[in-house]
Amino acid sequence: MATAKHAAFLCFSILCVVLWSSRPIYAQTKPAFACDIAANPGLKKFRFCDTSLDVKSRVDDLVKRLTLQEKIGWIVNTAKGVSRLGIPNYEWWSEILHGISFIGPGSKFMGPVPGATSFPQVILTAATFNVSLFEAIGRAVSTEARAMYNEGLAGLTFWSPNINIYRDPRWGRGQETPGEDPLLSSRYGAAYVRGLQRREDGNKEKLKIAACCKHYTAYDLDDWKGFRRYNFNAMVSQQDLDDTYNPPFKSCVLDGNVASVMCSYNQINGRPTCGDRELLYGVIRGQWKLNGYIVTDCDSIHEMFNAQRFRATPEETAALALNAGLDLNCGSSLTNFTQGAVDRGLVNETVISRAVSNNFATMMRLGFFDGNPKNHLYGNLGAKDICTPATREFAREVARQGFVLLKNTKGSLPLSSTAIKNLAVIGPNAAATEAMLGSYFGVPCKYTSPLEAIKASVFNVLYQPGCADVWCAAPQVEDAKKIASEANAVVLIMGLDQNIEREALDRMNVTLPGQQELLITEVAKVSKGPVILVIMSGGSLDIQFAKDNPKIASILWVGYPGEAGGAAIADVIFGLCNPGGRLPMTWYPQSYVEKVNMTNMNFRPNPATGFPGRTYRFYKGKTVYPFGYGLSYSTFNHHLVEAPEFVTMPLEEAHICRTSICKSIDALDRNCNNLAFNIRLGVKNTGKFSGSHTVFLFSSPPEVHNAPQKQLIEFDKLHLMPQEEGVVQFKIDVCKHLSVVDETGKWKVALGQHILHVGSLEHTLNVRI
Ligand SMILES: *[C@@H]1O[C@H](CO)[C@@H](O)[C@H](O)[C@H]1NC(C)=O
Ligand SMILES: *[C@@H]1O[C@H](CO)[C@@H](O)[C@H](O)[C@H]1NC(C)=O
Ligand SMILES: *[C@@H]1O[C@H](CO)[C@@H](O)[C@H](O)[C@H]1NC(C)=O
Ligand SMILES: *[C@@H]1O[C@H](CO)[C@@H](O)[C@H](O)[C@H]1NC(C)=O
Ligand SMILES: *[C@@H]1O[C@H](CO)[C@@H](O)[C@H](O)[C@H]1NC(C)=O
Repeated sequence: MATAKHAAFLCFSILCVVLWSSRPIYAQTKPAFACDIAANPGLKKFRFCDTSLDVKSRVDDLVKRLTLQEKIGWIVNTAKGVSRLGIPNYEWWSEILHGISFIGPGSKFMGPVPGATSFPQVILTAATFNVSLFEAIGRAVSTEARAMYNEGLAGLTFWSPNINIYRDPRWGRGQETPGEDPLLSSRYGAAYVRGLQRREDGNKEKLKIAACCKHYTAYDLDDWKGFRRYNFNAMVSQQDLDDTYNPPFKSCVLDGNVASVMCSYNQINGRPTCGDRELLYGVIRGQWKLNGYIVTDCDSIHEMFNAQRFRATPEETAALALNAGLDLNCGSSLTNFTQGAVDRGLVNETVISRAVSNNFATMMRLGFFDGNPKNHLYGNLGAKDICTPATREFAREVARQGFVLLKNTKGSLPLSSTAIKNLAVIGPNAAATEAMLGSYFGVPCKYTSPLEAIKASVFNVLYQPGCADVWCAAPQVEDAKKIASEANAVVLIMGLDQNIEREALDRMNVTLPGQQELLITEVAKVSKGPVILVIMSGGSLDIQFAKDNPKIASILWVGYPGEAGGAAIADVIFGLCNPGGRLPMTWYPQSYVEKVNMTNMNFRPNPATGFPGRTYRFYKGKTVYPFGYGLSYSTFNHHLVEAPEFVTMPLEEAHICRTSICKSIDALDRNCNNLAFNIRLGVKNTGKFSGSHTVFLFSSPPEVHNAPQKQLIEFDKLHLMPQEEGVVQFKIDVCKHLSVVDETGKWKVALGQHILHVGSLEHTLNVRI
């Protein structure tokens, strides 16, 4: 989404409040809704207001009453009310990536709702690998969203989550995503969407709020060396599209039942996604059967014309998108050019009725046409339900579960808060507040910075920022060294913020900015006690120097940990809880980004060009830390309890593979149904701390079809007390879990030896016929 303009507007409106008014300019108290029969009994005669009818009948009744101009008013984000039918204006654009954001004109923080709970940025939440947690966050933030809607301060349609694969470490929006793995991204997207949308009364037809999975598809470059998302033509192979880029979207629609998908700005193989009938009508609507609406990024129709010149006129561009299956335009292109497109015969009214019907159906499912929301489920929610102690505590808990311990020399972390008399806290992120939120933030309930939380935990804290900001152009090395040499232990809180990585800003390097490395190294030299390096960032960093430096005892990655992030950092440093997060993305060395073009969309390596491939699934080169990495204050071991040594694929008498040699079998073959087995693993906590442990089940398929070298096929997490043992069981469906996509996009089960890995355990499974 293009946020810059809106942010400017917002700053402007804050200025208005500050400069021109001593009182808050808050007047609205009523949520927008239609069919207010109590206030206007004349509406009772309309079938679309009759809550006893099904959604389709109500939508059909409504749409046939509308003029073309009225329909056009409801295919853009700032929808125009139809007062003769009791329908108010409505703003479709709100955001709820990790809490309600002020990006999007649909949500406002003012009056009774000065703030809302800001959970950690998604990349850190993903590091928890805790699927029930993903859903619980969705439930918590959607309750706040419903409460804000009741206060007249938010809409019901939210354009989150962002489930694009984090393909390249430089991407400024990688922080918004659940990382580089298609399975984790699929599980995250579906679970978060369920949490957002599912009503507590179990009514599946209706929605609590409407989520949106974005940006469909192969969108993960914002602005790099002159390549901009508005006109970038991503060259994507069918194989990468089907086995990497699209699975999170497919899962979001099929498993999460999401109410909306957003198409992206970029082109794929020469066609803009929002104008590609095969991608929209064919795949999302046709194959996946989306029950909801397809929306543009803001304003991708304009960019298709303006930046891409994909069609000669704005009318042809508007018609292209509508005919491709698009329903809603974030922006004004369809306001301005739809009538002209109809007049020129480029698009017909049937297509516009389809679009507006999908939009209205979503609003019906949200209860927008059911009269006063006060009388329905969630009608009692209000300001009192936002920023509750329980929700704020939950935000702190999520951060604690996500933190990834990257290095911990024995006897370093956790620090004893009673034994330490003087603790030096150094770094440009030590006093971070807004930086803790990451992008797509709103106004949080309250901040607890790391410095504040650490001060509350130990006897005496010495503090020096060390650098003026994260750019760290001219560090105050001597000041920092002075306090480091006086302290029993040092905590350095370094890393990035939104000035370095964000929407519309990709990184050039993956090293720490400016002189941060120098500051860290100089401080470490003079420290008497353990040096703890805390990295706050969304993207990965080449911190090989710190990994190798024996004076740096511990390294903790804290993502962008949300409003309570500082408290959670103190909880982990002082051992109130045990970190168990695992990296959801590969940490590459700087040499990787010097060698690889960000514009290269391939995942598979290419020996001919020296392209090394991407992500743990294909990249074989050196890493700083691999995907899935993360330590604990405890130790865990695994042993195999149950796993078969072979599975036999039943084939029909006449199957071609009975008579000729086959490398793989079609995974959609009907013989493939329900061919499943169990894998059971024993896990023991062999250390002294209780803690949570994530079990990853990877598979290395036989080398056919350019298959990944290794692929996550299941994961689970369990909490164990010291010396406790638990069992994890995975049900493996051969055709679902063990299949790979071939060069043409078909799912296949490779015959032969599949190596299953769990930690250092390896088990060979022979798939035969
Ligand atoms: C649509 O028209 C309005 C009003 O003239 C203008 O401000 C806006 O920029 C136009 N939008 C596009 C995408 O052309
Ligand atoms: C309207 O346009 C669509 C898409 O081009 C086409 O399939 C349909 O037949 C048209 N309908 C009418 C009534 O012309
Ligand atoms: C990133 O790398 C470029 C090119 O090597 C260099 O000019 C620039 O100073 C580096 N930026 C940072 C922030 O380290
Ligand atoms: C990177 O992209 C540039 C510009 O498109 C191209 O000239 C160059 O050959 C590419 N390098 C590699 C290693 O692919
Ligand atoms: C997952 O998160 C939930 C909610 O915070 C928590 O109760 C549970 O213990 C977590 N699971 C594990 C295995 O840590």
